Parts: sequence; C-alpha cells; structure tokens
Amino acid sequence: MSENLSPIDTAKFVAAKRATEFVADGMKVGLGTGSTAAWLVKCLGERVRDEGLKITGVPTSRRTAELAQKVGIKVISLDEARWLDLTIDGADEFDGELNLIKGGGGALLHEKIVATASDQMIVIADISKKVGTLGAFPLPVEVIPMGWQTTRSLVEETLHAMDVMGQKTALRMNGDRPFVTDEGNHILDLHLTRIGNARQLSLVLNQIPGIVENGLFIDICDVVVIGHGDGKVEVEDINAGTHEEGRIAFAESDNIFRDIAE
Ligand code: 5RP
Repeated sequence: MSENLSPIDTAKFVAAKRATEFVADGMKVGLGTGSTAAWLVKCLGERVRDEGLKITGVPTSRRTAELAQKVGIKVISLDEARWLDLTIDGADEFDGELNLIKGGGGALLHEKIVATASDQMIVIADISKKVGTLGAFPLPVEVIPMGWQTTRSLVEETLHAMDVMGQKTALRMNGDRPFVTDEGNHILDLHLTRIGNARQLSLVLNQIPGIVENGLFIDICDVVVIGHGDGKVEVEDINAGTHEEGRIAFAESDNIFRDIAE
C-alpha cells in the first residue's frame, strides 16, 4: 500500500488507522468530514466487515454519511443518538493546547455540534497541520445568506479590535456561486495570518448577528493522532498529558480502498 500512497496520504492513513483503535464494540461514534476523516471511515468499515465491529455512526456531513453507508457502517442522526462516546475528525490546524481551526471542508457547524456532544474528541491529522499559533489557515465562519454582506462588514469592523495580524475576509465560492453548507448557509474565510487570542475571538465572533458558528474549536479536542509520511504515528492526550510514538505496519493486502471513491 505504501508504494501506492503519497507521503501525505500515508500520513493521513496511518493517523486514521491508529485512531480506529479507540473505537470499541457498541460505541456511538461521530464521523468527521474531509480527506483524513474519509480514511477513518474506510478503516472503520474494514473493522465492521472483518471483525464484526458493532458501531453506530453519526456523520458530520452528507458526503460522510454516504461513504459510511457504502462501507457498511450503520448511520443515525444526532437526534437519534443524543450523546456520543467519541468523535473522530480531521482539522485544518491544531496548536499545542489542541485548539483547532476547522471548516476547510465547509462542515464546521455539524462538526462542532457533534464533537461537543461527545465524551471525547480525537483529531486525526498529518504533521503539516501542527502549528505554534493558529491563524495561517483562513478561519471559516458560517453565516446566514440573508444580509451576509452586512455580517461581513460587522466582522471586518470587529477584527480591527482583535489580536489578529490580517483582516481580509472572503466569501467562499463554489465555481461562480457562493459555497452552500449542508445547512444552506455561506462561509466567510477570514485571512488572519496569526490569531493572538483564539478563545476571545471565537466568543466575539459568535456575538455577531448573522454568524451561525466559527471554525475555532477551543477546549473541545482531547487527543490528537498525528501521522507522518513514513508511517510514524504520534498520539498526544491533553488530559492525561501523555505523548506516545509508534508505527503502523501496513501491507499491500491492506489496500482494500482503491475501488471506494471519496
Ligand atoms: C471539514 C474540516 C476538515 O476536518 C478539515 O478541513 C481537514 O480536512 P482534510 O482532512 O481533508 O485536510 O474541518 O469541514
């Protein structure tokens, strides 16, 4: 399999594969969105198929729901599950305190609701997502379409008083039309370069009418599983204060995913 995967895909795969070890029979598991989370869903599908693992998945997007069903994971809504044992999701950035920027795939609202409704959130990421200070990745903010230009002006005005380096905002596009989230909203991407006080920024943004949620995940993530291009995996647990290193061994026979489109 390693021969067929680029270093970045190897890193995502090994992080996802290691994270499946946190999943046990009978669990209700939040399933994240994005390319790393897609690896996770495939790896969990493999455990369902090969080991008879019995889990129920709560997907954070329509595309994750489709993939989960395709690989044989039973899918229910958060309203049916009410509370989850675990959520495993990707991230666009994580810092030393395991605070995150999420929403690069536009699913931040469902992702935050599902992660918050879980006993534990585990982030799976390749090493490139690790940062000293959040903000190089543009911060996604989900806004209601009605009056979005006014909301954008209010955001820009607010950013002047915040501890951030950049203040440019951009409406996310899908071709020549605004990107639309699973909830029918739009995304503003805030190009901040450096966020000095992420907790404060998150609270202030969510006070602006028209903003539904922002992509800063503060004090939500418990564990990060970091994959490297050579198969090395690190597991950092912020609550236990532990850091482990290992390696995922994989063989050509592991490559059961070639025919499953993302
Ligand atoms: C989607 C997300 C993703 O988790 C984030 O964008 C990371 O994606 P990828 O694993 O493809 O790099 O927040 O809204």
